[in-house]
Amino acid sequence: MPDYQIAPSILSADFARLGEEVDAVLAAGADIVHFDVMDNHYVPNLTIGPMVCKALRKHGVTAPVDVHLMVSPVDRLIGDFAEAGASYITFHPDASTHVDRSLQMIRDAGCRSGLVFNPHLGLDALTYVLDKVDMVLLMSVNPGFGGQSFIPATLDKLRAARRIIDQSGYDIRLEVDGGITPANIAEVAAAGADTFVAGSAIFGKPDYAAVISDMRAALAG
Ligand code: DX5
Ligand code: ZN
Repeated sequence: MPDYQIAPSILSADFARLGEEVDAVLAAGADIVHFDVMDNHYVPNLTIGPMVCKALRKHGVTAPVDVHLMVSPVDRLIGDFAEAGASYITFHPDASTHVDRSLQMIRDAGCRSGLVFNPHLGLDALTYVLDKVDMVLLMSVNPGFGGQSFIPATLDKLRAARRIIDQSGYDIRLEVDGGITPANIAEVAAAGADTFVAGSAIFGKPDYAAVISDMRAALAG
């Protein structure tokens, strides 16, 4: 079985109690913390920045933090997030003028890098930068909000991304973000994903451990 990882999106957490929420979801069995950054420019919503990431580290969160930048421009936030304790920094190629440079900046800052593809976008931007990418993230909803439904065309795109990654020979994670639930996670994994973002499916239920264990059971088949 692949090394599956579950990444709760704190977008759906109670922001008034964010430290406790992150502690709770990690205690419930989550592997990494998915941290959605929105700028009201690239996406029509506004969320959290490096200060909140830093505060979570100060609070004692040691798990990997997976920073998903839905911002444009990208580059000037990279250093701040690296300093704030980000583990992964992923961005949308259509939000950066110089994608190769942004990827290199992330690695130079000591973080793992990733490219994020909106539902309508093909994977062309990956072709010449596979050696600089640690994660490919496919959006299975249009970015900006939690609680949307999974877009089924993502399954074909996951299969295509899985082929590209396997043929490259590089160690690249394949993450999927949007509308993931215990009911569809097995199908999404079968299409090639190994890292699963879930916001409302986890934080929308009172028992986070029960949801995460349902997801793991579905993954185990
Ligand atoms: C959407 C965000 C997602 C979101 C997923 O723009 O990138 O991470 O929180 O939420 P759910 O799992 O509720 O679709
Ligand atoms: Zn996200």
